[in-house]
Amino acid sequence: MEQYIIKGGNPLVGEVEIGGAKNAALAILAAAIMSDETVMIDNLPDVNDINVLLDAIAGIGAMVHRVDRHTVKINGKSVTSVDIEYDYIKKIRASYYLLGALLGKYKHAEVALPGGCNIGSRPIDQHLKGFRALGADVEIEHGKIIAEASHLVGKHIYFDVVSVGATINVMMAAAMADGLTILENVAKEPHVVDVANFLNSMGANIRGAGTDVIRIRGVQKLHRTSYSVIPDQIEAGTFMFAAAATKGDVTVLNVIPKHLEATTAKLLEIGCEVEEFDDAVRVVSKGRLKSTHVKTLPYPGFPTDMQPQIGVTLALCEGTSIITESIFENRFKYLDELARMGASVKVEGNSAAIEGVEKFSGARVSAPDLRAGAALCIAGLAADGITIVDDIVYIQRGYERFEEKLRSLGAVIEKVSTEKEIRKFMLKVG
Ligand code: UD1
Repeated sequence: MEQYIIKGGNPLVGEVEIGGAKNAALAILAAAIMSDETVMIDNLPDVNDINVLLDAIAGIGAMVHRVDRHTVKINGKSVTSVDIEYDYIKKIRASYYLLGALLGKYKHAEVALPGGCNIGSRPIDQHLKGFRALGADVEIEHGKIIAEASHLVGKHIYFDVVSVGATINVMMAAAMADGLTILENVAKEPHVVDVANFLNSMGANIRGAGTDVIRIRGVQKLHRTSYSVIPDQIEAGTFMFAAAATKGDVTVLNVIPKHLEATTAKLLEIGCEVEEFDDAVRVVSKGRLKSTHVKTLPYPGFPTDMQPQIGVTLALCEGTSIITESIFENRFKYLDELARMGASVKVEGNSAAIEGVEKFSGARVSAPDLRAGAALCIAGLAADGITIVDDIVYIQRGYERFEEKLRSLGAVIEKVSTEKEIRKFMLKVG
């Protein structure tokens, strides 16, 4: 089992290049099979989740040609199966985007039903509600969602909760339905807009993505395109909080500063300096930072995927901070790990009260999920002494060359998998 071993104490300083948005890329890759022509997608992050989804796409017969680490060509003409197995869904929930893509194109999809996951129970009732509204018969049989329609017909659909996944999945199916679909109470995340832009570049007719109402006029066919995925706002925000927590000075490059506004606002509130450029943001952290309160919300609110990273930072700020997690019920597990490093935290329901401490002390901790794992690495970088983070397989699902990027900013971090490697690291860092 691979682990990260970290010697904390160095402020992170320098510039770091941000990759393509994993969550946008997952939906875009699934949507790519909707064309019978070759679609080229670049600025893909080279992370495990993307590779698993590409396997799932190849598994149903689509042509998948990896041009390089960040570029792929997909052609959906050769798809022979509309059945996505549990193995894929188990590894990566977002394989369920193939449901909307296959249903839209072939009017038939069979995809294993995803279970809960480490951050919460994650129902998909809104996805199914949307497909049914478009006229599909949707049944759950033997752990599988089976969705079928003779043809899909555009409808006015009002989502009960704001869901990124449901918005994207139903938008994909509606892109090839007959007539006009109007989606209300939709998610406005940058990746929803990116998927809509991608579908439009293939000839879809989708308007309003990024607002509360999306209007989709279905088309019969989607054509070839070449598309570049937007930068990853969560990867960028992770490095911004790493700068804050380590009292560093980091510029994140290749970002869209507008997408980072909620993160930037919180960094300013706690006393960091933030400078915005056209496609870069610089975060400078000096002296002791101040506490604040934060509540996770759908975009443009503060992202739940940044909650652990701000949590770690607030645990080092002067005063008491309150975090309210309003999207997923199980996203405070990392705080128990952080307490092992000296943080003072009290969780009640969906709120956590954090009394800032001056320093963490390095300890052995486990990554409970992707973002929490990255946050614990930030804690290790800010801590006195050595921290070992277990279960980094979660981190590798969503961060490309995480340790290399951190090292380029002056972090002392290695990926290790044996006691011998740990001893070697200890000897090296003294
Ligand atoms: C996506 C992101 C994830 C992020 C989340 C919220 C991907 C691959 N994942 O997840 O990283 O944390 O958005 O920004 O893009 N809900 C329902 N019924 C549904 C669907 C959702 O009740 O049918 C609830 C969920 O339980 C949750 C809330 O709606 O409380 C938001 O979930 P959603 O936006 O759907 O998250 P995902 O798309 O799964």
